[in-house]
Amino acid sequence: MEGGEGVGKSTNLQFIQQWLVQHQIPVTVTREPGGTAVAEKIRAVLLERQDEAISEQAELLMMFAARAQHLQNLIKPALQQGQWVLCDRFTDATYAYQGGGRNMDMQTIAWLEQMVQGDLRPDLTLLLDAPIELGMQRAQKRGALDRFEAEQIDFFKRVQQTYLQRAAEHPNRYQIIDASLPLEQVQAQISAVLERLIAQ
Ligand code: TMP
Repeated sequence: MEGGEGVGKSTNLQFIQQWLVQHQIPVTVTREPGGTAVAEKIRAVLLERQDEAISEQAELLMMFAARAQHLQNLIKPALQQGQWVLCDRFTDATYAYQGGGRNMDMQTIAWLEQMVQGDLRPDLTLLLDAPIELGMQRAQKRGALDRFEAEQIDFFKRVQQTYLQRAAEHPNRYQIIDASLPLEQVQAQISAVLERLIAQ
């Protein structure tokens, strides 16, 4: 599950979890950065606003360090047990935020992706897409902003553009969900995608 800030990822993640349970599909729900004890510590460093500036390279490498822990200690064992893994963000977020938002080199990201994941890629990526202003307002209402939420609007425009570009480049894996619609209609779109996925 991917998307910018405040697009309703948490609510819809819960909806998907319930949908899968109702369809008797065993599911592990997790998030990035994070998902294991060590990866959650890395997440805290990444999200906290602190006096020492975090270099872009350190940010990128911490994303992949957390992901390596997550893959080894949670995702791969869950897949081996036959579970579906439903993840709040994954490597497309690195392309969107570090590649798009921070203008880092996409080939370096692709190289790290290959190093950390080998050939493992998500089967389906749901991109919740909504106007940036709407998402930023929702994020601001949640309270204190983290290190990413505190970025400027241009940063989020680049993030959104990169997500949409990647969706266009990977049409079989990506499904774009219009998250600006009322919740019921968002969830109807998601259900339709899931119905098609399990029918495959
Ligand atoms: P979230 O759980 O509220 O989505 O917060 C995670 C933040 O981390 C979000 O602002 C996006 C950012 N992020 C990246 O910049 N790169 C990544 O690879 C991932 C997984 C998240």
